[in-house]
Amino acid sequence: MEWGMKSSITVIGTGRMGSALAGSLLQAGYPTTVWNRTRQKTDPLAKLGAIVAPSIDEAVHASEIVIVNVSDYEATETLLRNDAIGSAMRGKVIVELTSGTPSGAREAAEWYTRRGASYLDGVIMATPDYIGTDAGTILLAGPRAAFDTHGNVFRALGGNVQHVGEEPGRANALDSALLALMWGALFGTLHAIAVCQSEEIELDELARQWSATAPVVDGLVADLIKRTSAGRFVSDNETLSSISIHQGSMQHLMELMRSRKIDGSVIDGYDAIIKRATAAGHLHDDFAALSQFLAVGK
Ligand SMILES: NC(=O)c1ccc[n+]([C@@H]2O[C@H](COP(=O)([O-])OP(=O)(O)OC[C@H]3O[C@@H](n4cnc5c(N)ncnc54)[C@H](OP(=O)(O)O)[C@@H]3O)[C@@H](O)[C@H]2O)c1
Repeated sequence: MEWGMKSSITVIGTGRMGSALAGSLLQAGYPTTVWNRTRQKTDPLAKLGAIVAPSIDEAVHASEIVIVNVSDYEATETLLRNDAIGSAMRGKVIVELTSGTPSGAREAAEWYTRRGASYLDGVIMATPDYIGTDAGTILLAGPRAAFDTHGNVFRALGGNVQHVGEEPGRANALDSALLALMWGALFGTLHAIAVCQSEEIELDELARQWSATAPVVDGLVADLIKRTSAGRFVSDNETLSSISIHQGSMQHLMELMRSRKIDGSVIDGYDAIIKRATAAGHLHDDFAALSQFLAVGK
């Protein structure tokens, strides 16, 4: 349905993130229809001019572009993947922004595509306050043509919306990869806090020292990705640090944690990876060589 110059958009799910998505579409002047299981969560959007669909069927019928943002793919499946709604899919662009797995996205892509819809599967690399701002990052995978046709709609959701490829699982795979990196830093911070607390070091001292160390860590992360990509695992004159150097310092951390009765299970996991590399004769390789030892049970 076209209203004036801008296509109408439906947003299914108006929780924290869905409300931000619908709000930014309204702000950009898109006629927006919303539906949420708990209807009162759509009230603030109605005040901003959204049309509140009385049923999920009517929400899907209202627009060519249907953006979905609920808690998980099981919820989406219950809501949309049934015969009644399936028959209304032809010609629509479904944009699934709910978090999920690559295989979940592939399975969904097959379901929607078989019913004549274009399916874009995306991930939001930001909190709701970033939506609609220049720094809002959303990665979308699926048919390039659908992404290009509706580029203006996606740009209303964030200044950094990127198409990351046609293969529908790519956005979810990148999401998990980047979250793995983020949790490395966040759980590492929990360990740093526990060590400081047990050694009676004030946390503002930790914060001060971290700001000096952070650029070094950023450099190591970039170097690790670059060397792995090039397969440069053997130590050379550009190696920043070998596995053996990390292993030695890690033994100090493990000893300290044991003596202070701090949970060492995460560090034991790091140590297990190092042990596999060491057993295979790679102790003196570049740290990047560890990337070959993540596979288990082979
Ligand atoms: N918040 C963030 O910072 C953030 C960042 C990136 C990605 N995301 C992703 O965005 C999605 C939504 O997150 P959120 O923060 O908006 O969560 P939220 O505030 O808890 O909202 C969850 C939404 O899902 C709906 N829902 C859950 N189960 C349902 C079901 N069985 N049937 C129908 N509707 C159902 C809820 O409806 P009711 O209102 O009726 O409960 C609500 O609209 C998640 O996949 C999350 O991983 C969130």
